[in-house]
Amino acid sequence: MSSPTPSPKSVAPAEGKLGVLTVGLGAVASTLIAGVELAKRGQGTPIGSMTQMGTIRLGKRTDGRTPLVKDFVPLARLEDIVWGAWDVFPDDAYVAASRAGVLEQGKHIESISETLREIRPMKAAFERRFARNLDGTHTMDTVDKRAMLNAIRADINRFRDEKKVDRVVMIWCASTEIYIEPGAQHATIEAFEKAIDANDEMIAPSMLYAYAALLEGVPFANGSPNLAVDMPCLRQYATDNNIPISGKDFKTGQTLMKTVLAPMLKARQLGLAGWYSTNILGNRDGEVLDAPENFKTKEESKLGVLEDILDPANNPELYGNVFHKVSINYYPPRGDNKEGWDNIDIVGWMGYPMQIKVDFLCRDSILAAPLALDLILYSDLAQRAGLGGIQEWLSFYYKSPQTAPGLRPEHDLFVQLEKLHNTLRWIMNEDQITHLGREYYDQA
Ligand SMILES: NC(=O)c1ccc[n+]([C@@H]2O[C@H](COP(=O)([O-])OP(=O)(O)OC[C@H]3O[C@@H](n4cnc5c(N)ncnc54)[C@H](O)[C@@H]3O)[C@@H](O)[C@H]2O)c1
Repeated sequence: MSSPTPSPKSVAPAEGKLGVLTVGLGAVASTLIAGVELAKRGQGTPIGSMTQMGTIRLGKRTDGRTPLVKDFVPLARLEDIVWGAWDVFPDDAYVAASRAGVLEQGKHIESISETLREIRPMKAAFERRFARNLDGTHTMDTVDKRAMLNAIRADINRFRDEKKVDRVVMIWCASTEIYIEPGAQHATIEAFEKAIDANDEMIAPSMLYAYAALLEGVPFANGSPNLAVDMPCLRQYATDNNIPISGKDFKTGQTLMKTVLAPMLKARQLGLAGWYSTNILGNRDGEVLDAPENFKTKEESKLGVLEDILDPANNPELYGNVFHKVSINYYPPRGDNKEGWDNIDIVGWMGYPMQIKVDFLCRDSILAAPLALDLILYSDLAQRAGLGGIQEWLSFYYKSPQTAPGLRPEHDLFVQLEKLHNTLRWIMNEDQITHLGREYYDQA
């Protein structure tokens, strides 16, 4: 059965170089860049990346067609990626990767040191108010918002010219900003433009980067929970101008587990009394999130998941009274090696209580880097396929997926995976897979 929405007429080939601009050159971005450079040279395996290692089933189960995703859809090759970045600190990618302490110096940094040293960040559009625990000085000489917006645009164009790239994607891998709710300033482009000129305090640097990207026709993916592109005016602009956008907040560790376990409870109609999630984390991200006004942004992103999955309004008896708590504690000795604990109090047959404990000893940036890579390659694919506006099929990668206004996000990891796979099939004009499966049993 074909999808009722016609597939894109064609997908432009991934010819030439793909420029990737990361906002932020910290733990995630440096781990991403180093990992891709290692993979290019056959010195490391891009584990965790669907675009590099995943397969996709096509047609019937009996057809035996399960190509690699990258052989099925025309993705940019790792060899064609060219890097650029902004950061509040002047450290090049070699120093950033060494400082982050995610990858082993001898095994995974030294052999590519020359390439990493060449990736030097441009000066950041930054205001201390939005991340007070960061005291970097490698910033634009102004905090005037119009001037910062213009400077970001100029940076994009200089990068394009100097590196001779054919296409550009921007991905936010910078710190989480303080919590901001969308307001009148973010409702229309006219209001947003006025707010920029008035240096309105509700205009955060992430919004300026996102707007600059859109003004330059560059797809934008948002790895943190900041609003950035998730507001009415930029959504509309991206749709009107056919530029792919997606967000928010890489789904890497604890929320990844949550979006696997909670759908399981719901599928089996097991009740939930409480879910207590806590983390210890010692990297710079943890330090920034130690400020309550920054943590609030992260908390909002992490808390929405259960409510959306369990849908208490329609399942009041099982999920009407859930105590859900999420905390992140800055604990320097652990560095990037986050530990996420979950205590889950569930309820079974006749109301008997049970418990599930999860202790995920993860590595934050090792989990985030492959997601960032996939988002870059899929955002570029979306652009070449003519898909603008919110890319809901990329929800798979996000804690707090951006959706059309009024549309509840889909959080269940495997529903998200099917949505992503079906979108790839749809882009390539292949049949959708519904899992009905009558064809294997119906008589011919
Ligand atoms: N690692 C994960 O598992 C994970 C998961 C979900 C979301 N995230 C988010 O990804 C982002 C990056 O995480 P990280 O561990 O790399 O953090 P990090 O602190 O190591 O790196 C962020 C970098 O961004 C820079 N920065 C801050 N504001 C900037 C600005 N306005 N312009 C340019 N650079 C700026 C900082 O100086 C820093 O070097 C954070 O927002 C984090 O919350 C990470």
